[in-house]
Amino acid sequence: IRNIAVLTSGGDAPGMNACIRAVVRTGIYHGKNMFGVMQGYQGLINNHIIPMNARSVSNILHLGGTILKTARCLEFKEDEGMEKAFKNLKEKEIDGLIVIGGDGTFTGAQRFGKKYGVNVMGIPGTIDNDLYGSDFTLGYDTAVNTIIEAIDKIRDTADSHDRLFFIEVMGRDSGCIALRTAVASGAEAVLLPEKETSLKDLIIKLKEGVNTKKSSSIVIVSEGNKYGGAWDIAKSVKRKFNHYDTKVTILGHLQRGGSPSGFDRILGSRLGFAAVNEMLKGATMQMVGLRGNEIKLTSLDVALHMHSYKLEDDLLEMTKVLSI
Ligand code: F6P
Repeated sequence: IRNIAVLTSGGDAPGMNACIRAVVRTGIYHGKNMFGVMQGYQGLINNHIIPMNARSVSNILHLGGTILKTARCLEFKEDEGMEKAFKNLKEKEIDGLIVIGGDGTFTGAQRFGKKYGVNVMGIPGTIDNDLYGSDFTLGYDTAVNTIIEAIDKIRDTADSHDRLFFIEVMGRDSGCIALRTAVASGAEAVLLPEKETSLKDLIIKLKEGVNTKKSSSIVIVSEGNKYGGAWDIAKSVKRKFNHYDTKVTILGHLQRGGSPSGFDRILGSRLGFAAVNEMLKGATMQMVGLRGNEIKLTSLDVALHMHSYKLEDDLLEMTKVLSI
């Protein structure tokens, strides 16, 4: 392998820049020519591929977002799009491709690698923490911290006004973000996509709070739960339980931005460093992940087909006990 390109694809995640920096500098350290692909797979198709040197990634370690930009690219799902992408890589003699993103990104990488024999490595980058093969994905820790900071602020005003708040957090189909933020913010309840909590049980829990003299309450709503968004749930609850003045906050995309936490800077650096080193040792079609604080490889096939991740059950039990 002589020429390696890196791209970010799907939703951005804090720590992606730290990871890009590590990929580029590790490659250069080993004497490779490094390239950055702009806007994910769209840039591969549009031939928006730029040479990168050690200085191209100066002073980005602490920045949120991704300097390479990102996109959700439908064209890459078509054979024609892939063909164009391959032609552009071939023209520049790029024989290694490192993709940073979530399962959509890995699905594209796997098809591309299989079809054209390009060496590909995947790095898990998504705030959702929903990938098999890594205990943590890049950006998850920062997003959790950002959300905790926001909920702390809401807690101040909720408590001052004796209100009930429904706070909706991201995670698509994964409740990891909701569960961690619920524990860390002392939420009274949490609604997750993976676990059944009926609205009836939720109301019982809120009533118990009133009986034990709680003056305010916070419910974290994971966006993928089965009862709908925070507004819908607030309305349904209010119909049967109208003790509190009820408010709704949807945190939205502020959860995806911001300077990466120390954890995500280190994780991004570790994963980027490992992806290049492993690729140079001959690995391909693998995802680098962190398991038990060690870098481990999982084949993209397995990572995608297992399509599962670990929700921390003890945390769910804790939210119930610690919020009495
Ligand atoms: O996958 C990351 C994520 O932030 C999810 O939590 C969320 O459902 C989705 O992306 C939002 O995507 P978009 O920014 O394209 O609206």
